[in-house]
Amino acid sequence: MRIGRTPDTNRTRVVVLTADAEFANSVRATFSASSAIELALVSGRLAEQSDTLDVADATVVVVDIDAGLADEMTALARLMARVGTWPPVVAVTQTFDENVARTLLQMRTADFLVKPVEPIDLVRACARVAKGPGGGAEPTDAKICTFLPAVGGAGVTTLAVQSAMILLNSGGLRTKPSTCLVDLDFQHGSVADYLDLEPRLNLAEIEPRPDRLDRQLLEVMLSYHASGLAVVAAPNRPAEMRSFDPDVVTRLLDLVSSNFEYVVFDMPRTWFSWTDSVLLGSNKLFIVSETTVPGLRHAKQLVAAIKERLGDGPNPQVIVNRFTQRMFDSGLRRGDLAQTLGDAFLSAIPNDYALVREAIDRGVPLDEVKPGNKITAELKKLVLDPAASKTAADGQTMPLMRKLKLSVGGG
Ligand SMILES: Nc1ncnc2c1ncn2[C@@H]1O[C@H](COP(=O)(O)OP(=O)(O)OP(=O)(O)O)[C@@H](O)[C@H]1O
Ligand SMILES: [Mg+2]
Repeated sequence: MRIGRTPDTNRTRVVVLTADAEFANSVRATFSASSAIELALVSGRLAEQSDTLDVADATVVVVDIDAGLADEMTALARLMARVGTWPPVVAVTQTFDENVARTLLQMRTADFLVKPVEPIDLVRACARVAKGPGGGAEPTDAKICTFLPAVGGAGVTTLAVQSAMILLNSGGLRTKPSTCLVDLDFQHGSVADYLDLEPRLNLAEIEPRPDRLDRQLLEVMLSYHASGLAVVAAPNRPAEMRSFDPDVVTRLLDLVSSNFEYVVFDMPRTWFSWTDSVLLGSNKLFIVSETTVPGLRHAKQLVAAIKERLGDGPNPQVIVNRFTQRMFDSGLRRGDLAQTLGDAFLSAIPNDYALVREAIDRGVPLDEVKPGNKITAELKKLVLDPAASKTAADGQTMPLMRKLKLSVGGG
């Protein structure tokens, strides 16, 4: 029997089933803080309760299962069959691997979390899935920041990674705005390497059926950095000469931008059919050049090409990377940059190879190697303009609990 309810818009009832006393305590502490949420905590194993667990009127059901046990997975399948499309079920597991992810996906659980689960992650997951079927229909309208290379090796990946970290940490210590860094250089991307992560995006798997790409599948294809930064990156296929169906890429971008507050794109040099949409959809568009005359020339040409192709919508601004201010040599000075690039010149990022190399080799942000370094300081000015920080602050002043309530109450 499938129950198939629609969201009850007046109340927020969270049903949590767990046999783990520690998890139960954490859940109690998390949800009892809010009078807007009615918590029904059921203790026991799903294998014993899948047919009897009262999910009627629940806004979200959270089940803590041992994914390593066949009877628990079977019980979850039974529960999912009974629940149907509503309420959404969030699975919490101790063990987790590709098979578990795949199975949870096939069962259409709304989300899953791996223990130890931070209370904030649990609330976020519940808030997200409680938005109702097709929760993505209410896009969060991410702030999108795109880095485009003027020449190879200019530092696009380095600056994109650092900017994503800056945005992630822009909400202060308590609330990190959800932030996703997307490596669109499918052929030679290095985002995953720079952050020492396993790339998990498999476009070939999505390509035959782009409509399958929903929030759940996206979750499987995300990698998470220890900082909390979400990363979409594909394993490198250096010898493969192929481009992907633009629909798949556009769908991926839509999904990412409706599920995160901040999105940062690391763009390839090649212009693909989906490039226009990325540039048009960006709130900030940075062209990264190195500090050489040809680099500046390419940057200038790229600015002109973008304006000609896409009109005044995107506002490309040039960042000149690896800049060294020298008093007495014949190298480029700041004045030369402004003169060559005109209005498009935005900023010069200092050269500090030792620092950047150490950060890359250790897979950590620059600030971790050298807090208060000049590269991060300069980038902060660029990515956190007043408008952007205002949004972050707004998000911060609304507690997640209220968001959860709001997302259900519709107001
Ligand atoms: N501000 C900087 N100071 C010193 N070195 C830097 C700086 N930014 C980047 N680098 C170095 O420049 C090299 C290229 O950087 P990165 O990989 O970020 O460039 P990219 O534009 O993404 O390159 P690709 O064209 O290969 O994608 C790296 O070795 C990196 O350490
Ligand atoms: Mg790169």
